Amino acid sequence: MLKETQIEQDSAALDQFLAANPRSLQLHEAAKQVLPDGVTHSSRRGDPTSVYMDHAAGAYKYDVDGHRYIDYWMGHGSLLFGHANPVIAQAAIEQIGRGTHFGANHPGEVRWAELICHLIPSAQKVRFFSSGTEATMMALRLARAATGKQKIIKFGLRFHGWHDYNAVNETGVAPSGIPQAVADNVLVLPTDIKAVEQALEANPDVAAIILEADGASWGTVPNPPGFLAALRQLTSEKQVILIFDEIVSGFRYGPGGIQKLEGVTPDLTCLAKIVAGGFPGGAVAGRADLMDLLSIKSGSRYIVHHGTFNANPVSAATGVAALSMIAAPDAQERIYDRIGQLATQLKAGFNNIFNKAGLSGRAFCYGRGAVFHVCFDLESQQPVEWPGDGNIYRPEYMEPLANPAVQARLKVGIPEPLKTQLRLELDNRGMQLMSGIGGFVSTAHTESDIEQTIEAFGGAVAALKKNGRIK
Ligand SMILES: Cc1ncc(COP(=O)(O)O)c(C=O)c1O
Repeated sequence: MLKETQIEQDSAALDQFLAANPRSLQLHEAAKQVLPDGVTHSSRRGDPTSVYMDHAAGAYKYDVDGHRYIDYWMGHGSLLFGHANPVIAQAAIEQIGRGTHFGANHPGEVRWAELICHLIPSAQKVRFFSSGTEATMMALRLARAATGKQKIIKFGLRFHGWHDYNAVNETGVAPSGIPQAVADNVLVLPTDIKAVEQALEANPDVAAIILEADGASWGTVPNPPGFLAALRQLTSEKQVILIFDEIVSGFRYGPGGIQKLEGVTPDLTCLAKIVAGGFPGGAVAGRADLMDLLSIKSGSRYIVHHGTFNANPVSAATGVAALSMIAAPDAQERIYDRIGQLATQLKAGFNNIFNKAGLSGRAFCYGRGAVFHVCFDLESQQPVEWPGDGNIYRPEYMEPLANPAVQARLKVGIPEPLKTQLRLELDNRGMQLMSGIGGFVSTAHTESDIEQTIEAFGGAVAALKKNGRIK
């Protein structure tokens, strides 16, 4: 049952949250003693706490105080089929019964790699890891080994995991804990093909360009139209390795990733999340000649690669289960068209709420396919007339979207403290957004879930308006 609340005053949402979540608050107190900030992931912090989950099934998570949430985190985008999907769960259970680590080759890893090569256009050979971070790290290493060059180009606001190369930002100054030598080898550019051309002219020692194929942080900031194709052409001319980070987008918008949808084939592709059926796992897939730098036959350029849990049998089994469903002939219709339609309904519902609340043009919901993002762009000095229907992909938005300040606002989505207040309102109504600003519709969500979500979201926005948090 969704909780029904209309907060009357500023603190009502917080009071309700505190009263409803004694066990979560108790756990948070204990967690702070043993975990920095009481959390295990920087985006899982919450004020006063994020609630602690007990179990999950389908589209729902259930917390330790007995509340149900319609979930749009969906395992940070890894649960295309929802929580505890029976096919994936069965694959895991069967494999656990047959052994979880052989310290040896096993048939599951072969089938897993075959499915990736079948589905992803750039995939000729594959190497497995335990996470997406490891995948992007290896893709960069492969590019350096292949070209004998040092530098990499990445783009502002883009995310590729938590390793040293990803941590470098536009300032060029090494962030805490990162060697300056790494920062000196990373060029962080705007998504402007002219800027890339100039950077390649000025830096003949660039090994690779890496970018999220669907835009910064699961599409919060879209890539400019034609950018992937232009990068492909330029990198081919200059013999720079083009790496698509499809860790979120890989099997999210269609079976073959953004590369299949846009008809642009990179040299290397990084995968994780859905590729392992929502279990820990990652992969680099790509041109056989590049991947073969991981072969002992490549002599002095051979890259030695260990990793206790590479292609572990359980992740291989769940990966095969997920990718087999994605490789089915009716997957487009049964998976992608369906979740796309549900997400369209959700986005329309949210935009309708914003339009009716008189906030049109300043708060909106957008996103490709089954992905959605909420943006409250309320106090900007450089206002953009955002569309009431959330379609920011139209040509007239290309200019504002090229502005770094606008991009930064899209990436933030909902500035603090409004984000915390919205999260409290939504938690109190039994609904969770990924990072508090958007999310992923899975095959487990139903029309009824979407209707309840829109209702809960409408209640939250009305409460924020009533207490003057938004105008
Ligand atoms: C685009 C992108 N690349 C890389 C990563 C890192 O993957 P992981 O968290 O599995 O290390 C993420 C994680 O969210 C991601 O969204």
